[in-house]
Amino acid sequence: MKKRQLGKNGMQASAVAFGAWAIGGWKWGGADADASVGAVHASLDAGVDFIDTAAVYGFGLSEEIVGKAIQGRARQSIILATKCGLRWDIETPVLHAESEGRRIFRTLDEQSIRWEVQQSLGRLGTDYIDLYQTHWPDPETELAEVVGTLDALMAEGVIRAWGLCNESPERLTQAAALGSLSTDQERYSMLDREQDQANLPVCAQHDLGFLCYSPIAQGLLSGKIDSKRQFNEGDLRADNPRFAPAVLDAVQAVLAPVESLARDRRVTTEQLVLAWTLMQPGVSHVLVGTRDTQQAAVNAAAGAIELNTEELTLISQAANAWPGFESFA
Ligand SMILES: NC(=O)c1ccc[n+]([C@@H]2O[C@H](COP(=O)([O-])OP(=O)(O)OC[C@H]3O[C@@H](n4cnc5c(N)ncnc54)[C@H](OP(=O)(O)O)[C@@H]3O)[C@@H](O)[C@H]2O)c1
Repeated sequence: MKKRQLGKNGMQASAVAFGAWAIGGWKWGGADADASVGAVHASLDAGVDFIDTAAVYGFGLSEEIVGKAIQGRARQSIILATKCGLRWDIETPVLHAESEGRRIFRTLDEQSIRWEVQQSLGRLGTDYIDLYQTHWPDPETELAEVVGTLDALMAEGVIRAWGLCNESPERLTQAAALGSLSTDQERYSMLDREQDQANLPVCAQHDLGFLCYSPIAQGLLSGKIDSKRQFNEGDLRADNPRFAPAVLDAVQAVLAPVESLARDRRVTTEQLVLAWTLMQPGVSHVLVGTRDTQQAAVNAAAGAIELNTEELTLISQAANAWPGFESFA
């Protein structure tokens, strides 16, 4: 497993991280708690030492499952990342989403962040968080206040480093100038490359870690999802235009040369996709949603794959052939 630095902060974490959204069940059609704990254990055993969760994933459940799974493991051997800023227990002026009868609001004011970090510590069963991230920007709170709160939590030893998610290049630049920002987390994959011209150059310039979320496009880039796949009720993919039959066919066409290379190399398509993603300029880590022990083993092993120039070019050509989700609208 390759290790990469979490930005200029200097902490090292496995290039492939365990993405813990799906194990919270919410938006993923539910999850089996034992299988989820098994998936975390199998990932750790396979060399993944970096786990990314969030308070809102399963409304606390994902953090609880991660907390349960890491009990008995050496705490200092794990890089634990979680997120704040989405509240389902209070109302604020900024409604983020309505889901499953709950209303989720954004806020990053100091009092709220300080309350949230204590809740997360309790659910995770730990006394510090390695990387604390804002989940979404809060237009009601000045960025300087957010940076001040996170820098203070770092100075107090509650968190070791902090990062942002879902930000513009302008705000990322501003935050990097204001305080000790370490990472940015954004959607990025072979099918979602807007960040090539947006935040990736900013991260390179300011020596920030860039964490890719949804790096296999929520399963599309495994090559295993076709129009026969039935999603559970409550799975965000069930009525998502990104999973429409015409899109699935187009993804299969783009992946054909990658699948052929995977057969030749005796690896899987998603492993090549992840290895390619990790080689893109400025990318430091991939956060892969992992639901069971089999996926855990496959995803972790991607962190050891080296691509030669010819292989890298072949996969880049496949990525460049993708017409974009918007062309199916
Ligand atoms: N900051 C943010 O706003 C934000 C947003 C989204 C995600 N994230 C983070 O990024 C992580 C990953 O993103 P994501 O979960 O949206 O998408 P993803 O990692 O691209 O896809 C995950 C899904 O793909 C399927 N899968 C995983 N490994 C597989 C394998 N080896 N073979 C076949 N299928 C496989 C699983 O679903 P099935 O088995 O059900 O098909 C899994 O739930 C999240 O867990 C979270 O930590 C952050």
